[in-house]
Amino acid sequence: MLPLKQVYHQRKSPVRYQLAPLYCRPWTLNGMTPRLIESHYENNYGSALNRLNAITAELEALDPATAPADTMSRLKRDESTALNSTLLHELYFASLGGDGRAVPGVMAEALGRDFGSVDRWRQEFMSLANALTGGSGWVLLTYVPRDDRLINQSTPDHGQGIAGGIPILAIDMYEHAYHLDFGANAGAYIATFMRNIEWSAVQGRYDDATKVSPPRKLVQPQFADVPAISVEEVAAMLKAGTPVQIIDARPRHYTTKSSDIMEGAVWRDPERLDEWIGELSKTEPVVTFCVYGFHVGCETAITLRKAGFDARYMAGGHYAWKAIKGPVKLLQ
Ligand SMILES: [Fe+2]
Repeated sequence: MLPLKQVYHQRKSPVRYQLAPLYCRPWTLNGMTPRLIESHYENNYGSALNRLNAITAELEALDPATAPADTMSRLKRDESTALNSTLLHELYFASLGGDGRAVPGVMAEALGRDFGSVDRWRQEFMSLANALTGGSGWVLLTYVPRDDRLINQSTPDHGQGIAGGIPILAIDMYEHAYHLDFGANAGAYIATFMRNIEWSAVQGRYDDATKVSPPRKLVQPQFADVPAISVEEVAAMLKAGTPVQIIDARPRHYTTKSSDIMEGAVWRDPERLDEWIGELSKTEPVVTFCVYGFHVGCETAITLRKAGFDARYMAGGHYAWKAIKGPVKLLQ
């Protein structure tokens, strides 16, 4: 299938999105008539694409320096709805045309890994579609490169999607997608859709999606060589009763404004490390942290390591601990 293509890259003329030809062969579908697919393609997909081009032309004609902000923001909202509608309709038509029961090995393995089994995935996908009956929206099987996993998502309109996710299978739950053939019987439509999934095309999209690089890791270049520990790992240590010395090394001026401290931690003034370093045991690991996990916690960890302690700083500091709802107590 042709992707949505912008013909004029030079921006000399308004951008025009091109119509994608119908991917599935309507006469081969099992239990869905060509009339339904033709009407859906022409009236709904076609309208979305025309709307998208009209909105794009309107946006091109606006001068962003003088256009009223509410006009611009309405057009951008409409643009995103129309663009998502065209993208999802193209994916929908490209999801149909096969034997939905024949899940190829690669997909069966991926669905088993991320949902427990193909059956469990199918049940969840169908249940999400059923929940949209009487309303409208989409159910998508989406690959998320950051997490290297597949996830089902239900979107109650055209506008929502998982940021950075790549949808690889779509069922349209707007009434126009089934009413001509199924009336109000959305359940029969969902079952019919499942019978017609073109798995080899889904697998092709899955293969492409897994080649997309995840977003680059957010690594702080400064202190990158100081050993860190995540708040989740510290929580797990505390839960398991692993002996650990936790030092809250927030600068004094922060702690005078703050009313809480991580449960299990003791506050020590990072400016007066010489006075309290002697209290620490060298046989138990030390975790230090400051407000956000940057300078002070790292520097404290560095000093302790130089003194021979097994010290690490807790990435994200006090606020990361609170963000995972780690227990805190009153700071006396
Ligand atoms: Fe539709």
